[in-house]
Amino acid sequence: MPMFRDVLVHLSESGTLRRVATHAPGARTMARRFVAGETVEDGVAAARELNAAGIRVTLDNLGESVDTRDEARAAADTYLAMIRRIVEEKLDANVSLKLTQMGQDIDAAFMRDNVGRVLDLAREHDMFVRLDMESSAYTQRTLDFFRTLWDSEGYRNVGIVLQSYLKRTADDARMANERGARVRLCKGAYVEPPEVAFQEKSRVDENFVAVTRMLLEEGTFPGIATHDPAMIEATKRIAHEQGISKDAFEFQMLYGIRRDLQAELVREGWGLRVYVPFGDAWYPYLMRRMAERPANLFFIVNAVLRESPLRFLMSNGKR
Ligand code: FDA
Repeated sequence: MPMFRDVLVHLSESGTLRRVATHAPGARTMARRFVAGETVEDGVAAARELNAAGIRVTLDNLGESVDTRDEARAAADTYLAMIRRIVEEKLDANVSLKLTQMGQDIDAAFMRDNVGRVLDLAREHDMFVRLDMESSAYTQRTLDFFRTLWDSEGYRNVGIVLQSYLKRTADDARMANERGARVRLCKGAYVEPPEVAFQEKSRVDENFVAVTRMLLEEGTFPGIATHDPAMIEATKRIAHEQGISKDAFEFQMLYGIRRDLQAELVREGWGLRVYVPFGDAWYPYLMRRMAERPANLFFIVNAVLRESPLRFLMSNGKR
């Protein structure tokens, strides 16, 4: 249902809908399926539970496209708090952040300072920081910024995300492989025009497998981020064929999605990291998850109904 997906992704960018949805009855319950909670401690608690099940974590403080310096500074401060708590709790975890949350749309030097504070503290603790990838309007800027960090400023605890729906991605994977930088490969979650992105699922998948091969054969500890059983099987096949060991890369999945597959990978001894988002700015994240699988909408509607005043009245107030 590509049209429906596009509509949901566009709605994810609406500020008005975000305000309405965030205050709707049952909103928290509905977000809870895919979001670990609202506070750093909620994220830490989810990470502890996943670690206990043999799953690594990357913690994400939800937020993107902030338009004030105060918000961006506060987001960077939250990342510092997350890193300190990960260290205190000795969690097997790192962090993922979005550059638009750090002020990319406000001022490049200001954004660099915010990201620099996070990278410096992470480096002190030997911790890795992943720069999430946003829409194609940001791809070049994000990769240029990554190259500045890596080539000119000497950071080695930073990595990138590449999206297999983008036609440029094999070239970007080569750039990262040449540097020995860590790449997370995903399919891509935004709506992109045919000039820059493959439109057919088969082409996106084909590119996913081709770039996975490049990353497994020539890359540095890549993260193969997908819930698609066909992509997972293809990755295992390449690893077997090429004699690539299970600790040379990891699978990655999102919190709350395909827990069955997550458990299966751990049982089979593959490395798995789960992306754990928390915070109150969950609206765009949740809408992208709806877009990927519209069946999730039914789950959400059900959760909202369970909590709404309408349901309360329909049940004659008995609850
Ligand atoms: P695909 O969408 O083809 O779905 C295959 C199967 O997976 C479905 O049939 C279903 O079984 C299951 N599935 C997929 N999505 C589901 C959902 N929401 N709910 C329930 N089941 C679902 N994107 C981006 O643009 N920038 C980024 O930085 C990141 N970061 C990131 C990190 C991690 C760890 C993951 C796993 C994903 C991302 N993504 C991302 C999102 C990614 O681009 C993509 O949108 C989703 O992972 C969905 O694509 P799949 O590969 O899972 O397959």
